[in-house]
Amino acid sequence: MGSTLWRNARLATLTGRSPWGLIDRGALLVKGACLHWIGRELDLGSGLDIEVEHDLGGALVTPGLIDAHTHLIYAGQRASEFELRLQGASYEQIAQAGGGIRSTVAATRLASDEGLFASAAARLDRLRAEGVTTVEIKSGYGLSLEHERRCLQVARRLGRERGVDVRTTCLAAHALPPEFDGRADDYIDAVCGWLPQLHAESLVDAVDAYCERIAFSREQTARVFEQARRLGLPVKLHAEQFSDCGGVALAASYRALSCDHLEYVGAEGVAAMASSGSAAVLLPGAFYFLRETRVPPVDAMRRAGVPIAIATDHNPGTSPTLSLRLMLNMACTLFGLTPEEAVRGVTVNGARALGLSDRGRLAEGLRADFAVWDLEHPAELAYWLGGNPCLRVLCGGVPLAL
Ligand code: NIG
Ligand code: FE
Repeated sequence: MGSTLWRNARLATLTGRSPWGLIDRGALLVKGACLHWIGRELDLGSGLDIEVEHDLGGALVTPGLIDAHTHLIYAGQRASEFELRLQGASYEQIAQAGGGIRSTVAATRLASDEGLFASAAARLDRLRAEGVTTVEIKSGYGLSLEHERRCLQVARRLGRERGVDVRTTCLAAHALPPEFDGRADDYIDAVCGWLPQLHAESLVDAVDAYCERIAFSREQTARVFEQARRLGLPVKLHAEQFSDCGGVALAASYRALSCDHLEYVGAEGVAAMASSGSAAVLLPGAFYFLRETRVPPVDAMRRAGVPIAIATDHNPGTSPTLSLRLMLNMACTLFGLTPEEAVRGVTVNGARALGLSDRGRLAEGLRADFAVWDLEHPAELAYWLGGNPCLRVLCGGVPLAL
């Protein structure tokens, strides 16, 4: 098999000890779906079987970006809720009054499979156009076996048809559907019954839950996690977003891939994540959009060595953004990350939050997932607001049409 050479590039490999793992005048040799060789153009050996050669004109190349937390599949929008919140209503008040997630569930249940696919595909294409090559997509707006299955099937189809690698997460324990009003424990029993079926249909890569005052308790979350463990599925958790419910410690005891949100996590939670190896997925879009004021304890996470990932949390209620680059900027301006930490959060640590070791860096043997940017320096990924400097995206060695 011949290979493709991408040369005359500035590579931000995110490997090694030097800042950004920068290689100037670098080259990448892609064979099939993998990075076969990477280094300085000068060091490229002779006698290589190069079929095609591309001169990148000095452009910046980074690993393909990884959005490790999205709720991409839903119908409708919630602009009226945004207006209510601007007038003083809180997210929790709206949820308690039957709005919030429930209103998106009602719209999603009414949508056709084709309609759900088309709207999610349009969103995915916007993420992709900004360099995203791996996306985690959660269910959680179906809340019945039939509708959770439909949403997960749409996620799988997106992975097959849009050229991007999709990881699915079952978030059936996202909110209580109206037919289970006042019966949260019964709903959790139902969810535990659906998981083996959805898993048998190969629809689930991980299991998530929303552990919060307005959602499910620690005990209810633990029952979902027990079932995931029986099925051999990794878990993740929406945890400590509005209060410290002890969700992080619980998730860490199940060696969660990640704990997400974390504005209210305390010292014990951070220590638990450090010992379980769980990544912290910070979601500055939701923090910003809900006009929260309490920031996640980034310093404590750094000191404890918790890997920090950044994601869009794209959803119609709390984070209606489709720009992972904007999240990089917000991770710096709102949460105090350095641009390099932020970029590592959507590459190396994004991969970590999904349990993937074959991507997130530019290194030999890893997937040939990379983005080419009309930028001089990788810090610019977190610097420019708006516009789109992404020139090309390759996923698994295949160039995507942007
Ligand atoms: O990650 N926190 C819970 N879930 C979503 C919001 C979902 C919604 O409001 O529709 C989140 O922020
Ligand atoms: Fe979320």
